[in-house]
Formats: sequence, structure tokens, C-alpha cells
Amino acid sequence: MEENKLKKILYSLSLKEKIAQTVQLNGDLFTESGVIPTGPIKDLGLPDDLDIHQIGSIYNINDPEKLRKIQQKTMKNSLHGIPLLFMSDIIYGFRTIFPLPIAQAGSYDFDLIQRAAEFTAKESYLSGIHCIFSPMLDLVRDPRWGRVMESPGEDVYTGKSFAKSVISGYQGEESRLLSENHVAACIKHFAAYGAPEAGREYNTVDMSNQRLFNEYLPVYQAAIEANTLLVMTAFNVLNGVPSTGNKWLNRDILREKFKFSGPLVSDHSAIEELQAHGFTKNAKLSAKTAIEAGVDFDMMTSTYANNLELLILSGEIEESLLDEAVWRILELKNKLGLFENPFRGLDKENTGEFLTNEAKETAVELVEKSCVLLKNEENILPLNAHQKIAVVGPYGKGKFTLGFWASVSGKAQDTVTLKEGLEQNFPKENLSFTAGYNLFDSYESFGPLKAGIEHLNGPIENEEKLIEEALEIANDSDVILLTVGEQFLESGEGASKAKLTLAKKQLRLIKALASLGKPIVGLLYTGRPLVLTEIEACLSGLLLVWYPGTMGGQGIANLLSGQASPSAKLTMTFPRSEGQIPIYYSQNTTGRPLDEKNKDIRFVSKYTDESNTPLYAFGAGLTYTQSEIGWLNSKKEVSFDDSGQIKLTYCLKNFSEQESNTVVHIYMRDMSASIVQPFRKLIASQFIKLKPKTKEELSVCISKENLSFYDNEGDLHFEAGEFRFYIVAYGQEDELIISL
Ligand code: NOJ
Repeated sequence: MEENKLKKILYSLSLKEKIAQTVQLNGDLFTESGVIPTGPIKDLGLPDDLDIHQIGSIYNINDPEKLRKIQQKTMKNSLHGIPLLFMSDIIYGFRTIFPLPIAQAGSYDFDLIQRAAEFTAKESYLSGIHCIFSPMLDLVRDPRWGRVMESPGEDVYTGKSFAKSVISGYQGEESRLLSENHVAACIKHFAAYGAPEAGREYNTVDMSNQRLFNEYLPVYQAAIEANTLLVMTAFNVLNGVPSTGNKWLNRDILREKFKFSGPLVSDHSAIEELQAHGFTKNAKLSAKTAIEAGVDFDMMTSTYANNLELLILSGEIEESLLDEAVWRILELKNKLGLFENPFRGLDKENTGEFLTNEAKETAVELVEKSCVLLKNEENILPLNAHQKIAVVGPYGKGKFTLGFWASVSGKAQDTVTLKEGLEQNFPKENLSFTAGYNLFDSYESFGPLKAGIEHLNGPIENEEKLIEEALEIANDSDVILLTVGEQFLESGEGASKAKLTLAKKQLRLIKALASLGKPIVGLLYTGRPLVLTEIEACLSGLLLVWYPGTMGGQGIANLLSGQASPSAKLTMTFPRSEGQIPIYYSQNTTGRPLDEKNKDIRFVSKYTDESNTPLYAFGAGLTYTQSEIGWLNSKKEVSFDDSGQIKLTYCLKNFSEQESNTVVHIYMRDMSASIVQPFRKLIASQFIKLKPKTKEELSVCISKENLSFYDNEGDLHFEAGEFRFYIVAYGQEDELIISL
């Protein structure tokens, strides 16, 4: 629709109709025939005269038939022909569930990540969804927080690159209208939700402007530069002000500095919660604060619906503030082409378009490229096809490998199990399977889902009997493949943990198996880094598979058999013990850094009861191939060109008989600066495929911006001086010192 026509619609709306556009409700409140004005919707306390079909948006209905009926009713009731916007929590796959974002990012194959996002967009589009509440771009450094699984991890460069590829995948090429098979991205949670004190969900965030500008904000900013169409606020207080009521954050930074012009959605009840934070005295002030801060949608409360009219009529806020919010909402609907076609995506004959072979192949490739090989003593992996393999643990045959958010639209039934994958790669007669321990301790907490989950996962068994069975089949094998970790509800929203070790039942099983003296290869299913210090020595091999998604079993089996070779890197550090948290690779050195020479001296920066190093650091990840890496530049050759870039060249050699997939990381360190810079900072990565027994000369361009930092006002500076560059792959690194 042309802009002047859209403006006409805005001007023709009554105050009540405009306010209705800012209301966003969970679609569960709708029935096919309309709305039952009792129960949850009544509890919300919405005004009696609010026509539920004339609100701005609903979310988390993924059934195209229901959406069609709801939209039909909306269009029938609408005086102005404004369609309803459909949003959903589609985080890492709609029906084809891909590995978790924290895993995907570790592939450092950003084209592949974009391709996966394209399938997510297409499956969502074909279900009638217009906008998805992802990617989550909160930088994370505390594995106690349950939502680290949804994030690209602890590193700024990784987060920025992930943001750009996912948004391009969701939204497609830039154009006036979002094209078919694409959906609008809604990045979240602005800002710094990933740094709650003590890792406790929804807790306060308090950080310096240094950290905010240099580490937390750039990832969101990269997404805005990649044209994300929506942003969601965060639940947390940031430096004393709740993000959802933070005018500085949402207007000065998000809109003025980062130039974001789309709608800002509150997180679930976050406007209402301004009062619980102790920031506003009552709901009316919560509404005033949030609209003044530039929040356009009120998700799942009646705060805007009940208070904006009064605030405007009493002159406490200008009506133009509301007009601004409604305009952004209408513009988004227009960008989606909803005025021309309110049934976007729903009018397609879409049978068979979900879980297509192409989507599944992409998912397998992403599993292969995102599982991290953390240990491989005496090259225990890949496994030999003639070995007898005892597969112990509930993930052998289990289907709950999709992770917390997949339950919104994914189906555990679709999962390719590890057993199915292994049986395609190894002789069936060499494989035996047993659960080892119960994945879930009880099914009671699943409420209405109980019967389905129990049916799919099987009955809860006696733990002693499970260990006995495991010992029996392990005794009769050459190698034990042991699946351990978390079950899917242990991470995700509302799943903070103070203890990160494996459950006692798993530790008992591991110790019992270790007593057999057979090699054990661990497969770790998890949504967060865990503390594995106690069991690490029992394992000859360890493959971190995160929650691998629908095609997990296939991709993991390909890695175990050597059909595929691991290349992924850790995107988040695994501590040795909880007391080290926060522990991340880019920490500052301190004035008294620990080294080999001073390790016995008291007054250096160290623990008296724990090492300073993590168990597995950011960037860790082994391969099956043997290679070598090194810089080719000599210092004198490097200087900025006219476009403010330096070009660094390096050589990569593959000594192996197999093709190698290698993730190369390039780090830098600014040796002295007016604001202390991190010990190391990742500034580039490359995913390189190399033929057997070959070497290649490669190069990477680094911009002046990469070597700059923000001051406490958010202005970027480059300071000349000595820079060190590190090229890192296969656990090797090479240093280059340059003055610039
Ligand atoms: C709360 C979560 O924080 C957010 O990420 C999600 O999109 C909304 N709920 C909607 O379900």
C-alpha cells in the first residue's frame, strides 16, 4: 500500500482503535470461532469494549487453519481493513529443527547458518506466520543462566556474524516488500539480558558502559544494520533502569544512534513488571514510561489498553507518541504485504513443504559442523566399523533432542535417533543399546503433555537395574558410547542452575562403566556448558552434540563413523568449577597475570584452590585431520590501505589423506590503550575446505574499525600502537606483531 494511503488509515483510527493496535496477546486466548471472554483473557483485565479481533498482533499459534479463521474474522470485523499480525517463538527451526544457536554459531560456516534460517523462514511462512521472535542475540558468559542455548555464545564477533546470517536467511534480500517464503526477524532482548547477576533468570544487570558499548550492544547493532524488522525489549534492569522503561536505551541508543525505525515489542508482561521492579508506582505510570521509552507493542498485559486513553485525554502524554507507535506497527504490516494479502503464506497449497529433503540435508550438515570434538585420546574417534559398540544412555534411542524452544512448533516424533543414524553407518550386529539411566525422573510435571512424552520416551525404570544392564552390554563390547547431559527442560527460559555438574545418577553410571577399563566415548547433550571436571578423566573421547535437532542422530553417526569430520569450535567456555564463573576467553590480563614462573607466589591473580584455566576454552575443537597453520606476512609489509584495511596472509597445510574442514580464527590484542583492552579478541574467522595433502595461501582483511574500541560515551576510537595478531587452528597458533 502506498504510504499516503497508510497514513490515511492511521488518521482515520479512533483513539481506542489506535490503542488496540499496540496490544499483543498469546493466540491461545483465541478459539476458532472467536474468543471466550472468560478464564485467562478475563484475568488479563482488558477493557470490556476492546474488540479482541482488532488488536495489533497475536503470537504462538502455528496452526495455519486456526490462523486463517482468526484472520477471516479480523477482516470481517475490521472497519479499516487492518489485518492481524502473527508472530511466534520460532527460535532454531519450525518443523525441521536445527541445532541450538549456541551450537550453530560454532560451525563458523555462516553461509550454512543462513541456509538453515531460510528453511526456518519458509516453513514459518507456509504456516501463516509473519514474524518470528528470533534471533536471540544476548551475549552470554554465565552458564548458570538457562538461556545460553538460544544465544550465539560469549563472543562479539561470533554474535555479529551469526546475527547477520540469520537475519538475511529469515528476511531475504532487501526490498520494499518482504518476499514470499520469508518472515520478519525480531531480535531480542534489548539489552544485555544475557548478563543477569549470578546467572539467575530475570535478575538485575549491572555493567560498565565500557562493557555495554564494546561487548553487549555491538551484536544487536549488527542485527539492526542487517535490517531486522523488529526488536524486543529485555526483562532486566540495566544499570538501575528496567530496559523496557529505559528511554536512553530505546530512544537515544536504539533509534538515534543505531537508526532502528521498526516496532519495538515489550517482552512478555515487561511493561506491567516495571512496577514490580520498583520503577513505577502503578500501571498508569508503567504505560506512560514504556510509551515514552518508545515501546510500541505491549505483550500480554492490559497496561497500554487500560491506561493510554486516560493518559492522552488528561494531557499527561501527547497523542503523537501513540501515533508514532501505531505508525511503526502499520508500516510493518505494510512491509509484509498484509494490506494486499492478509492471508500471506496461508493461501499456499503447502502439503509436503515441511521437512523437505533439502531442509533435512542442511540440518545434517549443520549437525556435522556444529558438534565439537573436545577430547580424542589415541584417536579413539572415528570408531572402527569392526568394533563392538555398546551405546549406553537414554539418547541412544531417545527422541528428545530438540531443546526447550522447539516444542513451540517442532515434533519430537520427527527426530532421527542416534540408533537410526548409527545403524546406517555401522553393522547392526556390532551395536547394542541400553538406557543406562532415566532421562526424566518423573512425568508428573509435564501436565497435559505427560501421556505423549511418556509414550514416546517409555516408562521410568529402576536405576539399579539400568546400571546392571549397562554393565552387561558394556562388558561384551570393545568401546562404550555413552550419552550423558541434560534433558531438554533443564535449559531454556526459567532454567537457571547453581550446580553445573551431571546428575548423580549419571555420575554413578559413568564410574561404574569406567571400572570396566574399556574406552568410553562421551556424547554430551546439553543446552549449556557443564562442569565435567570429575568425569573427564574417565573418557577417552568426548563429542559435544548440544541439542542437535531433528537430524541429530544422522549427523552425529556420520561424525562417529568418519563419514564426516568435526570442525566446530566452542562458542562458550566450559569452566572447571562453578566458582570460576564468569570465565571467558577475552578477559583482561590484570596487573599481576599468572604465568609459569610466578605460579607459586601468593600475590598474583589466581585461585588458591582452582586453576585459572577453564576445562575447555572458547574456540576449543579438535579435528580428525592433521594440519599446520602460520602467518606469511612479515611485520614491515603491513599497513593500512586507502580504505582503512590491512591485509594479512597465512598458509594452511593439510597433511592428511582426507579432505579437511577447518575453522580458522584470527584474534588480536591491542598492547596498550587509554582504555584497557582484552587479552584477546576474535576479529575474523574463515571456514576452509582443503583437499588431502595440499597447502593453500589465504588472506584476511582487517578494518581499522576492528582494531578500535568504544569509549564510555559510545564513540569509537582507533589508537595507534603495537598490535598482536594470532592465527589459530587445530590447537596451534602463530603470532604476528605489528605497529600500526
Ligand atoms: C518471553 C521470552 O523472554 C521471549 O524470548 C519470548 O519471545 C516471549 N516470552 C514470547 O513467548
